[in-house]
Amino acid sequence: MNPTLLALPGVRELSPYQPGKPIAELQRELGLDRIVKLASNENPLGPSRKALEALQQMMDQIALYPDGSGFELKRALSAVLGVNGDRITLGNGSNDVLELVARAFLSPDLNAVFSAHAFAVYPIVTQAIGAVGITAAAHDGTRGPQYGHDLAALAQCIERRTRVVFIANPNNPTGTYLPAGQLRPFLAALPDHVIAVVDEAYVEYVTAGDYQSALPWLSEFPNLIVTRTFSKAYGLAGLRVGFAVSSPQIADLLNRVRQPFNVNALALAAAAAALDDRDHLSKTISLNQRGLEQLSRAFTARGLRFIPSVGNFITVDVERPAAPIFEALLRQGVIVRPVANYGLPHHLRITVGTEQQISQFLSALDRVLRL
Ligand SMILES: Cc1ncc(COP(=O)(O)O)c(C=O)c1O
Repeated sequence: MNPTLLALPGVRELSPYQPGKPIAELQRELGLDRIVKLASNENPLGPSRKALEALQQMMDQIALYPDGSGFELKRALSAVLGVNGDRITLGNGSNDVLELVARAFLSPDLNAVFSAHAFAVYPIVTQAIGAVGITAAAHDGTRGPQYGHDLAALAQCIERRTRVVFIANPNNPTGTYLPAGQLRPFLAALPDHVIAVVDEAYVEYVTAGDYQSALPWLSEFPNLIVTRTFSKAYGLAGLRVGFAVSSPQIADLLNRVRQPFNVNALALAAAAAALDDRDHLSKTISLNQRGLEQLSRAFTARGLRFIPSVGNFITVDVERPAAPIFEALLRQGVIVRPVANYGLPHHLRITVGTEQQISQFLSALDRVLRL
C-alpha cells in the first residue's frame, strides 16, 4: 500500500516549512564566491565570544549525554529573567517548544487560532497533530498596522473548541508588533480553556516605547506561555536552542512530551554563556537599529513601500510577483526570503545585515530592478 495513504490526514496535506536558502547550496548551484545571506534573520555579528569559549570547553565532553534537565542554562535564565527555573521549558530552538505546546494541548477535535501572515510554524505544528488551524484576518491598515495581528479578529475566531492561540510579538515576516496596552487586555479577556502562546523570538530588538514583553504578566495569566530563542539576537541559530516560560504546571506538561535530551550539550553551554555577554547584545541591537534605518531610507529613496519593522528584518513590497526578483537576486549572490507562502506574493523579507551586506543587497536590487 502507498505509505502516503497510511499517514495521518494532517501530515498527508502538510506543506513543509521552507527555510532560507543555505549559502553552500547557492555556491553549489551557481559557483559564486561572494554570497550574502539575508534570509533567515540570523545575527550578522555572530555569537558572543563568551559563547564560543564555552563551546570550546564543552568539546571534550560530547561523548557524554547532556544534562537532560538543562540545570545550568535554566539557572542562568532564571537570574536574567527573574523567573523560577520550574517555569522554564528548554527546546531544540523555540520551534521545538511550539511543537511541544501542540502535542500537549491540541488534538483532532480542537483548534488553534493564529493571524494571517503569522509565523509559518503555528499552522504546521497544529496540522501535524491533526488539529484544525483557524486563521484570523490581519489588519487591513485602517484600524492598525497593515498586515499586523488584529486582536479583535483573533478574539472573534475563538470558540468552544479553541485550545491554543498563537501570537508572535513582534511577528515574522511582517515585523509588526502589538503594544502592551492592546495585548494585555486581550490576554485578560481570553476564556480559561484557551492557552495563549506569546512568541517573543525578536523581543531583544524592539525599541518601541509602547511595547512590553508578556513575561511580567505570567503571574496574572495562568494559561500564558512566552517563548523565546537564542537563534536571533544571541547569534546561535545553528546550535538550536530556545525556551518557554509559563506556569510551573504548564512547564511540567511540556516537559512530559519533551525528548529527554532535546537540547545538546554544546547548545546548553553556549546559551548560558551568551546570556552573560550584555555588551554583545547591545552591539547587536544598535547595529540592527542602524541597519533598519539604512534599509528604510533606501526603500523610501527607491519609492518602494515596506512594512515598518521592529525586528531584525524588513519586508518590502516590490509591486510585482516577487519570485523572479528573488531568483534574480540569487544570481547576483544575494539570498533574501520570498514570503508568498505567508500570503505576501509581492513582498520580499530582508534580514538586517551589516552596513556592507546591506549595501551589497541594495546594489544587487538596483541591478535587478533595472533589468
Ligand atoms: C516568530 C518566530 N518564532 C520562532 C522562531 C523559531 O526560531 P528557533 O526555532 O530558531 O528558535 C522563528 C524563526 O524564524 C520566528 O521567526
